[in-house]
Parts: sequence; structure tokens; C-alpha cells
Amino acid sequence: MSVQEERKREVGRRAAELVRDGMVVGLGTGSTANHFIDRLGERVRESLQIRAVPTSQRTADRAEALGIELVTLEKCPRLDLAIDGADQIDPDGNLIKGLGGALLREKRVARAAREFVVIADASKEVSHLGIGCPIPVEVEAIRQEEVSRSLRALGGDPRPRMRDGRLYRTDNGNPILDTHFDGVGDPFVLEEHLNSLPGVLENGLFPGMAHRILIADRSGVREWIPPTRPETDRQDP
Ligand code: 5RP
Repeated sequence: MSVQEERKREVGRRAAELVRDGMVVGLGTGSTANHFIDRLGERVRESLQIRAVPTSQRTADRAEALGIELVTLEKCPRLDLAIDGADQIDPDGNLIKGLGGALLREKRVARAAREFVVIADASKEVSHLGIGCPIPVEVEAIRQEEVSRSLRALGGDPRPRMRDGRLYRTDNGNPILDTHFDGVGDPFVLEEHLNSLPGVLENGLFPGMAHRILIADRSGVREWIPPTRPETDRQDP
């Protein structure tokens, strides 16, 4: 196992210790979240009683195979806790997510949780969001061209995500435009702006959503609480 994978495993397993009997828990998507889910499965076999809402079909399949009881957000609209990975984390705890394609359900689950905990290895920490990492934008297939034009007008460089030579589709059946911005100004403003574009279903900016962040680095797992940000302190995107 690579050093990075070991760190993902360490932080994923640590996060599983935050789960308590009786909780309804949101399960993230990705390699770091998988380590969390695997440890949670062990705890369920050891007698932990929980219900979980998955953020993707991959996560649902994994959790189900481990004996974790699944429920839907429709049935359980309020979660006690959600735990998920991230692609970039800035010093204020704002995130880019969705390189794994699950951004739409991930954001719904994170919003539904009383506590949203982000888990990552230290390579995900950046001084500024959006440098060297696109913002995934999930769009209605029939409006892909129109959305691409709008994203270009905003200064972005949208590229349709491909897989095995074909257009990638999310679990919801939609394409993703991976959009490079060469640095995000204000993630709060850009997140709102992107979602206001006709044809956009969701985007991978998660500003001000993380309540707690666990990072694995060479010295172990460190935890920090992102600062809360006043509503008035907003800049241009
Ligand atoms: C999936 C995500 C993942 O949380 C993100 O891509 C991080 O993945 P990994 O833990 O594999 O690095 O947002 O949509």
C-alpha cells in the first residue's frame, strides 16, 4: 500500500470511531471514504447499530456487502453525521469535491447532516481552491453546449468528462463538465453563480459546509474546525 493510501486508511478508520449507536450516517464516495466504510462494517459486525445513506451506487454496494443497513434521504431527511472525502481543502475549510462523480448526492447528504466531517490525506490541503483541479459541474445532457458557453463566459474552461472513450455519466445519468478556473476567487459566490446557470444541476464547490476536518499526514491524524464566515464578507467570484 502506498504512503498516501496508508494515510487515507488511517483517517478513514479514525472517522469510523465518531459513529455512535442509533445514528443515521451519510456515507461518502471515494477511496478515503471506502476505508471509513470498511471500518464501519467491522463495527457493525461487532454490534454497532446504525442506518446509513449512501452518496453513490458504488458506496451503496460496498456498504450493503458489509451488512450496513441502508436508508434513503427521502425516508431519513435528517442525518446525525456525514463523513466524506475531498479533492481540495483550503485554509478556511472550503472544498472542491466530485472528481469521483458523486457531487450531487454528496452535497445533499452533507447538507442534511447535523455534522459534516471531511476526511483526507494531507495532499488535499491547498492554499487556494481551483489551481490544478477543475470544478466538476453536473449538467442536463441536452443543455451541455449551452452550459459550456455560460461557463466560458464566466472565465472557465469546461471539458466534458470522458470514460473509456465515451461521455461519462453520473449515477443520475447526467454528464459532467470538469471546469478549470485557474483559481477560485470567492467560493461562496462562485458556487451560487454556477448553480444559477440554466442547465446546471450541481457543482463541486462545497463552501462553508465542513464542520470538522480530519487530515492524515506523516505525524498521524490531526483535526481542525474551519472558521465560520460572516454573511457580509463576500467578494466577487
Ligand atoms: C467523489 C468525491 C471524493 O470524495 C473525492 O474525489 C476524494 O476521493 P478520494 O478519497 O478517492 O481521494 O468527491 O465524488
